[in-house]
Amino acid sequence: MPLNASKLADAVMARCDELAACSEDEHRVTRRFLTPPMREVHDRLSGWMKAANLEPRVDNAGNLIGRRASTHLDRTLLLGSHLDSVPNAGRYDGVLGVLIGVAIAEAIIDESLPFHLDIIGFSEEEGERFSMPYLGSSAVAGRFDQNWLARTDRDGNTVSDAIRQFGLRPEDIGDAEFSTDHVIAYVEPHLEQGPMLEQAGLPLGVVTGIAGQSRLRLEFAGTAGHAGTTPMLGRSDALLMASEFIVEVSSLGRQTTGLRATVGRVAAAPNAPNVIPGRVELSLDVRHVDDLVRERAINDLLATGNRIAKAAEGIFSVLETNANAAVSMDADVSKLLIASIHECEQRPLELFSGAGHDAVVMAERFPTAMLFLRHPGGVSHHPDERAERDDVAVAIEVLCQFVRNLAKQHQPNQVSSS
Ligand code: GLV
Ligand code: MN
Ligand code: MN
Repeated sequence: MPLNASKLADAVMARCDELAACSEDEHRVTRRFLTPPMREVHDRLSGWMKAANLEPRVDNAGNLIGRRASTHLDRTLLLGSHLDSVPNAGRYDGVLGVLIGVAIAEAIIDESLPFHLDIIGFSEEEGERFSMPYLGSSAVAGRFDQNWLARTDRDGNTVSDAIRQFGLRPEDIGDAEFSTDHVIAYVEPHLEQGPMLEQAGLPLGVVTGIAGQSRLRLEFAGTAGHAGTTPMLGRSDALLMASEFIVEVSSLGRQTTGLRATVGRVAAAPNAPNVIPGRVELSLDVRHVDDLVRERAINDLLATGNRIAKAAEGIFSVLETNANAAVSMDADVSKLLIASIHECEQRPLELFSGAGHDAVVMAERFPTAMLFLRHPGGVSHHPDERAERDDVAVAIEVLCQFVRNLAKQHQPNQVSSS
């Protein structure tokens, strides 16, 4: 393998292990938006960035960006992914893509580029802390809604508080925006988080598009009461309503081709063993490649929620709805990625992503592409998440080739690459 891709892949794997230790929980990986472990991640990554000749800075959305500036074009190639995680996560989702980006900068440290190279670690993609995904990439793409600053986490801190506690200025979050003209492309390397590449026996895939996603916060309200004295007949038990609803969600998911429908979070109140639950808040995550199918599923499920609540003399409410439509990746950037894979004597698989990525938001504004890495076992959002060092080496080799190919396209005539 040319360059020192194997050695760089070893470093990427070791760094993924090292960053997994930066966690809110002692024995598991949990790193939510701008919590103290994110500072440790920034410190370690900044050191690796400097060694790769990247100048690190943190924007007011908490994104860490290492730039290798060019004196030729004031335009940039962005490579990276996110640094936050779900609770009890694996060690590769997001972080792997950022570390591959740093490895690319290391690999081509002696080569001149006609554009800036920005390696970006987005502060927030999973939406765990404030029940809102893509906070970091939304700021970069200029679609951060100022109302989000007032959202609260479970401890009552607002997004604004979190940004300020991290030493940043929420009032200047608009500064994080990159202008459309400034960005040549955003390319996100990421684990596939599924079985397709493994089944095809291929290390790399190029994403054609990303499924649309709806996230809702729902509530069933019933009547709390004494668990010992209230007769079973005639109870209005909110948790029972929620349970019936969850079964219906799963059933619709199984009956509708390609639909993913999940209730992942449930909070019962007052959450006491001897009190009939009076109120239950639950999340609903629905995804499909076809936005119309997803929207129809949401409408059906909301009707189901109302029917269940009515039968139990309860109330069903939609507290919040967020949705991202399905997006296509940029045809030209993806084509260059595919050509780079062939030039490295690999065969790409073109595939759709069921998982959400910062690329969803970035694609609204910038030419965006994604490189998927084979995911042994395909288990993600789980500590068993795995990545293969050899596949990481191939990804590094391919992305170096991609950067060189892009450089050729933007090379001013008078400049020669070393
Ligand atoms: C992000 O990982 C998502 O797809 O929920
Ligand atoms: Mn994830
Ligand atoms: Mn991810």
